[in-house]
Amino acid sequence: MTGRAEGKVAFITGAARGQGRAHALRLAQEGADIIAVDIAETVEGMDRFYPGATQADFDQTVKEVEALDRRIVATRADVRDFDALKAAFESGVAELGKVDVVVANAGIFMFGDKTEDVTDADWDAVLDINLKGVWHTAKAAIPQLKAQGTGGSIILTCSTAGLKGTPNVAAYTASKHGVLGLSRTLALELAPFNIRVNTVHPTSVNTDMIRNEAAYGLFLPDEAHPTSEQAEPIFRSINALPVPWVEPEDIANAVLFLASEESRYVTGTELKVDAGFDLK
Ligand SMILES: NC(=O)c1ccc[n+]([C@@H]2O[C@H](COP(=O)([O-])OP(=O)(O)OC[C@H]3O[C@@H](n4cnc5c(N)ncnc54)[C@H](O)[C@@H]3O)[C@@H](O)[C@H]2O)c1
Repeated sequence: MTGRAEGKVAFITGAARGQGRAHALRLAQEGADIIAVDIAETVEGMDRFYPGATQADFDQTVKEVEALDRRIVATRADVRDFDALKAAFESGVAELGKVDVVVANAGIFMFGDKTEDVTDADWDAVLDINLKGVWHTAKAAIPQLKAQGTGGSIILTCSTAGLKGTPNVAAYTASKHGVLGLSRTLALELAPFNIRVNTVHPTSVNTDMIRNEAAYGLFLPDEAHPTSEQAEPIFRSINALPVPWVEPEDIANAVLFLASEESRYVTGTELKVDAGFDLK
């Protein structure tokens, strides 16, 4: 039985934990080898929101991919540093031979201030990682994809915040709207090379990014220490389907579809995995 990603190599950023790890595992289950990148440390300024991924998290991704009998080349790099990211990508291609799928997934979430109160430092961190980092990821891989001449699939992780305004989340929302513009442009530029470019738009996902006191506080500003139990009904109320958040594997299944030949004529689309969030 042939896997849905058999023989493919996928380049995935933010692969140490959360959705990035789920993408690596789902694609590996279906036969792909993985080029993984993660900063694997807490980004400066983020510590007041939630802790970043660690080397131990990244090691766990490697272990789990290898347990599926797939190969993985995992390198620590910051998506803001193009040279480091490109070097990580190239060492993966040198070892695994090629790239077919790119998943630009690394991102951070900073939030809670009125737009006029956002600091330049927070704005720059979010835009530099969530938008410039996504551009860097595509930029690192496109020359190789074109040189191979066998097409490819580039998947950019966006958000419901890439489709709608989000009060008190200006930088993140602006960054994700930017990702959508980048995707649409790349889809047109790369279509002649049979390289497809699409976005995925998750609603809240059950990862460290939102399962923390700071994120709960976005909806419970009067609580000093808001809990998961208090936050859950509010998260549930923003989706149409009766769930507070979806699982990383739900997003990974969408990524797998976009990575596979099943979506061979799907490009420039916004694939919502949002429990109906966007309908409300
Ligand atoms: N969790 C949600 O509710 C949600 C909803 C919609 C979209 N998203 C998006 O999904 C993506 C994945 O987020 P997640 O939920 O898995 O969160 P997460 O915090 O668990 O994972 C993000 C990963 O990106 C890595 N990363 C952060 N900055 C980096 C940098 N500069 N260079 C390299 N790696 C870096 C982190 O170390 C971490 O491993 C992000 O783009 C996020 O914006 C998340």
